[in-house]
Formats: sequence, C-alpha cells, structure tokens
Amino acid sequence: MTRKFFVGGNWKMNGDKKSLGELIQTMNGAKVDPNVEVVCGAPSIYLDFVRSKLDPKFGVAAQNCYKVPKGAFTGEISPAMIKDCGVNWVILGHSERRHVFGESDELIGQKTAHALENGLGVIACIGEKLDEREGGITEKVVFAQTKVIADNVKDWSKVVLAYEPVWAIGTGKTASPQSVLCWVAHRFFSSGSVTGGTCKELASQKDVDGFLVGGASLKPEFIDIINAKS
Ligand code: G3H
Repeated sequence: MTRKFFVGGNWKMNGDKKSLGELIQTMNGAKVDPNVEVVCGAPSIYLDFVRSKLDPKFGVAAQNCYKVPKGAFTGEISPAMIKDCGVNWVILGHSERRHVFGESDELIGQKTAHALENGLGVIACIGEKLDEREGGITEKVVFAQTKVIADNVKDWSKVVLAYEPVWAIGTGKTASPQSVLCWVAHRFFSSGSVTGGTCKELASQKDVDGFLVGGASLKPEFIDIINAKS
C-alpha cells in the first residue's frame, strides 16, 4: 500500500471560536502540498463549528470517543455522534488520555474496535514515559500498547499509528530522528513536539510517514509542518 504523508494537528483543550476561526482562515487560504493528508483534532464542542468552516480538503478528528453506541455515559461521545457532525476521524490512546485520565490499554483497544466498526479513521497513539525509557522497557511498553490496538484492527487502511514518547510531549524536546522507532509503524510515527524548525529533518527520515503535532498546530507554522516534505 502507498503510504501518504500524514499531518495531524491535535488542538487539545485549546482555542475558542474566535482563535480557531482565525486559524481556520489561515489554513483555508494557505498553499498546501496536495499529497499530504491533513487532519485537525478539535475539542468535541467545536467539532460541528470546525467542520463547517474548515476547507473540506482538510480532515477533522475528535480527540476521543467511547466504546459503545449510546447510553448512560455522562460526558462521553460516540463515534456515531462524531460522524453525525460530518467528522471522519478520532484520536485514541493519546498519552494524556492514558496518563491524566487513566485509560487502560484494554479500553483503548475497545474504543478502537468500536470507532472502526462505525466507519471512523483512527489515529492511535502509543509511546513510553520517561521512567519507562530510563528503565529500559520502552519496547515492552510500546509493544503491549500496539498489540492491544492491533488485536482490534481488521482493516489497517483506516488506522494511523502515532508514536509519541511521553517525555517529548509539550516539553519542546523532540525525539531525535535516529531514535524514532520504526518496527511497529504501519503508516507513520511522529516524534513529539514537532515544530516548524524540526519538521523538515524529521520528515526526511525513511520511516517517518507524518506527524501528530500539538502546540505548533495552533500556530501559522502548522502550514510549514504540513509542507515539510515539499
Ligand atoms: O498530540 C500531540 C502531542 O501530544 C504532541 O504535543 O507537539 O505540543 O509536544 P506537542
């Protein structure tokens, strides 16, 4: 299968209609490489707003969803609701979901299965914490996370696997291109804190097929990151 370069922006719990509207205007007006698949992860309350304003050439993702279609699960959203907003992607297993909100590998696997069954593309995140890296168990942790996801995937064409070492998220630290693992990548590995300054070197690495960008995806430099391969 041909692997298309993929750039995800994860806006996390940031922005409002004004600032996101401005960012969307910048994106809509920018010259972007047509060979790159771009997907923006918006806060759930703004999914409808973002989908209605953002040029259709850019995809939109929810940042989470639950593992069942509906019911008494206060605060949760379902893949069907996401699709109902015209949104076709969801980010699952982000380290903030795993480590701030205590989501287990098993739950992330169940969510992955349910999202895929309902026709969403899944950006599935994996990555080790600093103590795990220093303890020499990076591969064990990342393998376990990946296995549970893989056990729940029948069709990999709708899955993007994002490797994000937790120690590199939001810290300004970037995993060196050499340290970006590649043995479990299906479509891409990102490397934490990608910026306009680091994107070109990372994008040139053989097994880096894209990025999942946090902070920099809220700034105009996101356009440079989208065009990192050009
Ligand atoms: O989802 C994105 C990652 O958490 C990276 O975030 O680019 O702000 O370090 P960051």
